[in-house]
Amino acid sequence: MNIQGLIQESKLPRLEAELLLAFLIQKPREFIIVHEKDILSLVIIKKFKAAEKKRLANWPLAYLTGHKEFYGLDFKVNKNVLVPRPETEILVEIILNYACQKKNDLDFIDIGTGSGAIIITLANELKKETEALFDAASFLGLDISKSALTVARQNAKIQNLHKKIAFLESNLLKNIPTESLKDAHLVIAANLPYLTPKQTREEPSISREPKLALDGGLDGLKYYRQLFKQLQKIKPASLFLICEINPEQARHIKLEAQKTWPRAKLKIIKDLSGQKRFITISLG
Ligand SMILES: C[S@@+](CC[C@H](N)C(=O)[O-])C[C@H]1O[C@@H](n2cnc3c(N)ncnc32)[C@H](O)[C@@H]1O
Repeated sequence: MNIQGLIQESKLPRLEAELLLAFLIQKPREFIIVHEKDILSLVIIKKFKAAEKKRLANWPLAYLTGHKEFYGLDFKVNKNVLVPRPETEILVEIILNYACQKKNDLDFIDIGTGSGAIIITLANELKKETEALFDAASFLGLDISKSALTVARQNAKIQNLHKKIAFLESNLLKNIPTESLKDAHLVIAANLPYLTPKQTREEPSISREPKLALDGGLDGLKYYRQLFKQLQKIKPASLFLICEINPEQARHIKLEAQKTWPRAKLKIIKDLSGQKRFITISLG
């Protein structure tokens, strides 16, 4: 069978079938388009069929190829980490805007780092943009999952940022001594699990991703509430916290934030599809 035949016969959307085959034959997708008449080996056809079966059973394409592009960088992913989502790129963009205006010695913390996509992209962009800001900054990725941290560390190494970014196993900020954050200029990214059990149950496309990365308790805000409590005990010189949320939680999380920091500047920010996707909380 040739490339064209396999792609046409596949039950996957054309783009996905092309990406999957390109991965299996270790060529760029363009190769598939130009070489439609090339004959495929039986081994490749077998591998393609097996991967196609998994994809049809809701395994994310990124788990099958082991890669996901995020903010122009290639991230290694596996079943122990959430596949980084395009909307999270906006979160990175918002932090970069803040950091470039602030220009202090900033301490960046990514809570629930997963594949490390947020903290690695931040470090990479700041290094490109302003060397001075990058040199003066510190970068820390936290996760409760050991196996996610293994992936994050590998990704930092691939981007040659492993000496600049520290990764630590921690339940939110629990393993970070409060004293070490006192008087710091903190920039915190939190894309914590924010789905309700019902949402996790009813969405087949996420059924293969770790529950630990998705389930945010009864109203989806369990981890953000805990994080706000932990942060309340810290007295940083300044704090910029951004949380990725479920659009339905916008009002509730805003109330929680107001209760925790009555003097903070709060902002709800929409994603590209117009959904309320982030809250930013700034103090000092
Ligand atoms: C929604 S995923 C986000 C992953 C990554 N930051 C991204 O944006 O692609 C949430 C992450 O939080 C981690 N996590 C869940 N509970 C946690 C906790 N109590 N403390 C720290 N990390 C936690 C999960 O292991 C998972 O990696």
